[in-house]
Amino acid sequence: MSVFIVDPATRPLSGTIDVPGDKSLGHRALLFSLLTRAPVRIRGLGGGADNGRTARAITQLGATVTRDGDAVVVQGTGLRAMQAPAAAIDCGNSGTTIRMLCGLLAGQPFRSELFGDESLSKRPMRRVIDPLRAMGAHITGAGSTSGQSDDGGASADVVPPLAIGPLSERLRGADHGLAIASAQVKTALILAGLQAGGVTRITEPGPSRDHTERLLAAMGAPITTRGREVIVSPDAWSEAGAALELPGGAIDVPGDPSSSAFLVAAALVAGADTVVCRGVCVNPTRTGFLDVLAAMGASIAIENPRDVGGEPVADLVIRGAAPELRATEVSGDVTVRAIDEVPILAAIASRAKGVTVFRDAEELRVKESDRIATTVAMLRAFGVECEARPDGLVVAGTPGRPLSPGRVDSASDHRIAMAGSILALAAGGPSRIDDVGNVATSFPSFVSVMSTLGASLHQEP
Ligand code: S3P
Repeated sequence: MSVFIVDPATRPLSGTIDVPGDKSLGHRALLFSLLTRAPVRIRGLGGGADNGRTARAITQLGATVTRDGDAVVVQGTGLRAMQAPAAAIDCGNSGTTIRMLCGLLAGQPFRSELFGDESLSKRPMRRVIDPLRAMGAHITGAGSTSGQSDDGGASADVVPPLAIGPLSERLRGADHGLAIASAQVKTALILAGLQAGGVTRITEPGPSRDHTERLLAAMGAPITTRGREVIVSPDAWSEAGAALELPGGAIDVPGDPSSSAFLVAAALVAGADTVVCRGVCVNPTRTGFLDVLAAMGASIAIENPRDVGGEPVADLVIRGAAPELRATEVSGDVTVRAIDEVPILAAIASRAKGVTVFRDAEELRVKESDRIATTVAMLRAFGVECEARPDGLVVAGTPGRPLSPGRVDSASDHRIAMAGSILALAAGGPSRIDDVGNVATSFPSFVSVMSTLGASLHQEP
């Protein structure tokens, strides 16, 4: 199991980073390219293992994926000419891969099987299986899991491996009122809705990321949105051949805001001459962390705004000494828009004056780890006073005072490993982060990027 050794920051960070491609958009670019018959050139894929799982999955379904310089070229099959996979599809650690595939494969006339690693094999699938079954899908899972933690963990659910199909008739459109805001579930239902007879409507309780709606609509899919409702009206489109095509045959994946959050945090914790995170997706469904940091008193300039492939993109710029931050409350829609950033925001909260409260974040219990429990354990490893709550956590900040050097168990969770590494910059001596291999699922260049910025962080096998 590899480890990171991180030294405290002794000088302000500095540098310009081209942030690797967004993981969420990478999954969608790959999967939706399978659904087109013209080749698609994808530039700027982040290179993480999770996107690699989606790339391999689409080859099992009949696409060819080739590298051409910096780009990946996908020759898809179209929605109606996919191949039955010859073997079960390994989704690795990737919840997005398995849940999106559920919706796509639910409408296909062949049988498929999906499985994943130890962490994915504990993640709840009922949220996607139940609404797909209501559309006529045949999906079975491997039984149930019980809660992952004592204080408010997940209840019994269906978990991978999953068996899907074969479907002899078409799926039926349905109205879904989701109990949880989830872009993965929404995407699965949109993909099923495209293959169904009749209209599918999906309404969510909060603003989950909308990359699927943007990209599929740009490809000519019959999708409209009205507030938090997504409407898929496939009948006429389906009768006309169900063709999808990416305008220009190419897509540029902008930088991952979730990865950039660690770099922004590093610049806030250690101080910055100038740190520039270039080309970051600033889709408003992803920028909750910037709103939280603004509420804490951080000043992050959003420069050079532009549009890249239908997504708003900008450079994030941090200048100056580590700012005096104040505690805040993170709840409601902001929590949804910052859900993957709670571990790093909690790390920053430990450097802010006062007590920061994170609410409405029960979804963190069922991410790559129980992120409420693992974030609390990570913070405590540095001597931070904090407490888990069923729907979030409470963090007491001690600004200015160096933290105790930490030894963090990342619990094989990439975001815990990276959040611990950033907080280690504020410790009074070297810290050690254990079990960091999974950083490669989303941000394989994390160590080299941190070194470019001037941090002393190295990986040991
Ligand atoms: C993702 C959606 C979110 C997020 C995950 C990626 C996506 O999960 O936490 O990292 O790409 O659709 P939920 O759909 O469970 O909210």
